[in-house]
Amino acid sequence: MSNQLTIALTKGRILKETLPLLAAAGIEPLEDISTSRKLIFPTNHDNVRLVVLRGVDVTTYVQFGSADLGISGKDILMENGTDGLYEPVDLNIARCRLMTAGIKGQKLPEGRIKVATKYVNVAKRYYAAQGRQADLIKLYGGMELAPLMDLCDEIVDIVDTGNTLKANGLEPRDHIADISSRLIVNKASMKTKHQQIQAIVDAIQAAVQV
Ligand code: PRP
Repeated sequence: MSNQLTIALTKGRILKETLPLLAAAGIEPLEDISTSRKLIFPTNHDNVRLVVLRGVDVTTYVQFGSADLGISGKDILMENGTDGLYEPVDLNIARCRLMTAGIKGQKLPEGRIKVATKYVNVAKRYYAAQGRQADLIKLYGGMELAPLMDLCDEIVDIVDTGNTLKANGLEPRDHIADISSRLIVNKASMKTKHQQIQAIVDAIQAAVQV
């Protein structure tokens, strides 16, 4: 059996915060990921490589075992589920909140509401728990536009600084969850490559605590 380990990383802003953590754990790509168009990167460890994906695909690669480990936002884990995964370390990076939001000062209508979000599973659970009937509309980005265009009454989205909501005349409403990035591990890999993976988990855990 190959002892090659693959770590799936999320591209974009999370990557900038991930690389220093990996470096502190002793894992460094051999070239600059941020300026390359490549998707697979060898590291200073012969048997460890990095792949760089969209956040929403990281859980898929790790769940199917194509990658042994991954770094994924808690928002995506909540939305996609964690079947076949361990989630051993909260990396405490890319911290933000998952919230509902709507047009400033505008009250929700009685009865059924329309909610636009890329987190349809999370939103479905959230509104059900509130006893609210919500029709979910799946979007893939730029959620803040949806209430302005009368596509929905409310959105469920990530809020970091709150600037995007403010710039579009929206207000944050209910807090659904605190979000940060997590280290995830394929359960089968954890069995078959236990020693190697545990060493990486421990090194990353130690790097987070510094
Ligand atoms: C995220 C999120 C908000 C924004 C929040 O979008 O969906 O739009 O960041 O950040 P803020 O509170 O600091 O303004 P992202 O830039 O990832 O793009 P997306 O809309 O395509 O998801």
